Amino acid sequence: MDQDQKKSAAAEAALAYVEVGDVVGVGTGTTVNHFIDFLGRAKGRIDGAVASSEASAERLSRLGIRLLDLNHLADVPLYVDGADEATSAGYLIKGGGGALTREKIVASASRKFVCVMDNSKLVKMLGAFPLPVEVIPMARSLVGRRLVAYGGLPEFREGFESDNGNVVLDARNLPLSNPHEMEKKINNIPGVVENGIFAERRADILLISGENGVECLET
Ligand code: 5RP
Repeated sequence: MDQDQKKSAAAEAALAYVEVGDVVGVGTGTTVNHFIDFLGRAKGRIDGAVASSEASAERLSRLGIRLLDLNHLADVPLYVDGADEATSAGYLIKGGGGALTREKIVASASRKFVCVMDNSKLVKMLGAFPLPVEVIPMARSLVGRRLVAYGGLPEFREGFESDNGNVVLDARNLPLSNPHEMEKKINNIPGVVENGIFAERRADILLISGENGVECLET
């Protein structure tokens, strides 16, 4: 089974969490693209979807899935998204695709966060994947210097603009043994919009696809 087949298997397994009449929060990325395609076949069962990026919104609407505005909803019962790294406790690094801010907003609004991934994403400790940090453009250098002071090695993501019109720094080497603390510390730097540590709102369920099928971890 190649990596894309594993992503597809994890995405398909997430369909079991979709209940009739649900509003489904939808993440971003290649794993989620498979989920969107499966959701397209089950669209009659759901009320609609809240997208975490322009790319996912476009894919959802191409399949005829009704897009809903988060501001008009009291509740998002389910959020399905991928990750760049995940621990078995549900802590994540996200934002490889640069959609981390909207992803964190929809994840935080959701009652259940199901994270779908192939088994290469499961790690003992977060941090091998460079941490994406979304930044207001004028604060790029300031934020970069602060990340260096925290032990990081930030790199400007060249040629990338987020859906919110911001830039992204990818920081290697940050100490992430306490993900809650680092999530808050980075978000406290003026000019940071959001960072890709998902600790305050971690995943509730991990669906991890490997050679022998999809394993479900409740965190
Ligand atoms: C996008 C994300 C994605 O969930 C993450 O990058 C995983 O992507 P993929 O499913 O393509 O491996 O956080 O901002």
